[in-house]
Amino acid sequence: MKNLNLRIYPDDVLRKISKNIEKIDSNIINTVSQMDLLMNENKGIGLAAPQVGISKRFFITKDFQDEDSEKFLVFINPTIKEMYGTIESKEGCLSIPGYYDLIKRHEKILVSYLDQNGKNIEKEFSGMQSIVFQHEFDHLEGILFPDKLPLIRKEIFFKKINKEFKK
Ligand code: CO
Repeated sequence: MKNLNLRIYPDDVLRKISKNIEKIDSNIINTVSQMDLLMNENKGIGLAAPQVGISKRFFITKDFQDEDSEKFLVFINPTIKEMYGTIESKEGCLSIPGYYDLIKRHEKILVSYLDQNGKNIEKEFSGMQSIVFQHEFDHLEGILFPDKLPLIRKEIFFKKINKEFKK
């Protein structure tokens, strides 16, 4: 399997809508472990498949229940079933390196997904696990965190990154 590399804005793959995983095979398992390496190398806390050029519905995050562990979580074909409350979140993205801003997220979410063993899991997340889940989930829809900024701040943000990151 070839080495994966990080896709940086404005790579077109970051704007595509990802497709469901039909079958969890060894290819996916190898990919998620490579993604974990890449995430740690870049000091990230989550990484979605489109960020390594794969338009499929899966992502990984740190396990925020157990921050000290090397463990990471795998979310395949995730859905957000319920969302509650609003919270401000200062975010960055490995695909837009060096840029951060405050956006609004849901405080708590009820999600379902398959884990790497194909087991269907339903869980409620709050705090960082909820925020990172929403950020990575957006990647599967071709959405980047600055898309969530209010109009004027969004224009300023994109003006800056369009200047820095040229195609
Ligand atoms: Co991101």
